[in-house]
Amino acid sequence: MTPSSADLRSFLAQVRSARPSDLLEVAREVDPNHETAAILAVLEARQRSPILYFHRVRGCEWPLVTNVCGSLGRLALGLGCGLKEVAARYADAAHRPIAPVVVEQGSVHEVVLEHDAVDLHRFPALRYHEDDAPQPYLTAAIVVARDPDDGVTNLSYHRLMIASRNTTGIYIEPGRHLDGIVAKHAARGTDVPVAVVLGTHPAWSLGALYSGPAATDEYDVIGGMLGAPLPVVRCHHDPALRVPASAEFVLEGRIAVGERMDEGPFGEFTGFGTGRTHTPVLHVERMCHRAQPIVQDIVSGHLEHLMLSMPALEHRALRDAKAAAPGVVKVALVAPLTVVVALRKHDDEEPARIADALLRDVYGKIVIVVDDDVEPTDLARVLGAVALSCQPHEQLRVVQGLRGTPLDPSCPDDRGQGSKLAIDATRPLRPRRAVTRNRIPQAVLDRIDVAELLGKK
Ligand SMILES: Cc1cc2nc3c(=O)[nH]c(=O)nc-3n(C[C@H](O)[C@H](O)[C@H](O)COP(=O)(O)O)c2cc1C
Repeated sequence: MTPSSADLRSFLAQVRSARPSDLLEVAREVDPNHETAAILAVLEARQRSPILYFHRVRGCEWPLVTNVCGSLGRLALGLGCGLKEVAARYADAAHRPIAPVVVEQGSVHEVVLEHDAVDLHRFPALRYHEDDAPQPYLTAAIVVARDPDDGVTNLSYHRLMIASRNTTGIYIEPGRHLDGIVAKHAARGTDVPVAVVLGTHPAWSLGALYSGPAATDEYDVIGGMLGAPLPVVRCHHDPALRVPASAEFVLEGRIAVGERMDEGPFGEFTGFGTGRTHTPVLHVERMCHRAQPIVQDIVSGHLEHLMLSMPALEHRALRDAKAAAPGVVKVALVAPLTVVVALRKHDDEEPARIADALLRDVYGKIVIVVDDDVEPTDLARVLGAVALSCQPHEQLRVVQGLRGTPLDPSCPDDRGQGSKLAIDATRPLRPRRAVTRNRIPQAVLDRIDVAELLGKK
């Protein structure tokens, strides 16, 4: 496989040969109504997170894969790096973008259906959680749109609620680039041409989730992830829109200006449902797919949902934290909306500056800054630092009036407004009183022979 021929199928083949226990093929018929989600949940509870390849899904002519990116090992495999190098590979790709290459023909155009032939009910009628809306969802959909001012392409995941043969509700959080693109079109009174890509290689998914300045074309970031230009084909309804040539499905259509529909409820990544929302409407005018396509899905609120966003969110948090204080050495998202920053501190104001920068992010609700001798993923150490390095009346701050996410179930309203928390759990550069850390002399530690002690010598 060359990097430019990477797609969902090549990745599934790679997993089958390199990590066979990471791919579980389910030959019996499964019910898309809760059962595929239940199978994933039961395996996850047993610490197993393979790709699930469902060959027969009730009511659907196509096979279904879910949990493609549900393990760090698979993300690393998809990026061609080691487990510990995912963050560095991600940063590399963002700093060394490679523009896509437009090709004339793509396997995604093997079948092209237009207008009345479009039927979204051919997708499996997937429902995950008890309180979800009765309408089925597409959850692994990457939406492609262009900024009408500068023509830059934006890619982002959006849950799509299938509302009819050719319409979906599209959930767009306030402040997202797509939200801005929709607003610009609304101001001009024009619909937003979009394409929806389904069935992707992990590098495409991670690139789509890149969240940098609006002027960054995420196809270039995907090229950076692959180390080669991504082959793309032009859309029919808007040739300026490009889509990966070997995606499994592409839906071409438009978000209608001024039109809204009721959407949800839907169980989100936090483990809680969003209630009913009033979302824009996506009209699908053309449905393209490979001759024997594979439908891709992400079970909402489970490992893959969190895992996929992690490299992009940590990359963004590291960038913003470093801009606030150059001594930042590591960041870790340890729980939803919670980031821990390890800092080699140069002045005692730095933790507050870092917290201010990260709390501006809608997904930054709790920021804990620790010294660089604390591993930020080790929660016991982090809480130990909060307890032992921090005087709450001075080092703990509640901030009000910043925008959060309406997906946070504790928010009192659905605008995402609420309060946030900054904890400076670093030791003061000038200790208030003399304290010493417990230490056994290194020379004595070095003399201890464990094998001798355990009688193995
Ligand atoms: C599986 C998955 C589903 C997502 N669903 C939505 C969604 O329905 N609406 C939304 O606004 N963002 C959703 N997101 C988050 C955005 O796609 C993501 O933050 C993206 O990077 C935003 O792009 P932007 O920074 O260009 O605005 C989802 C992310 C993942 C991984």
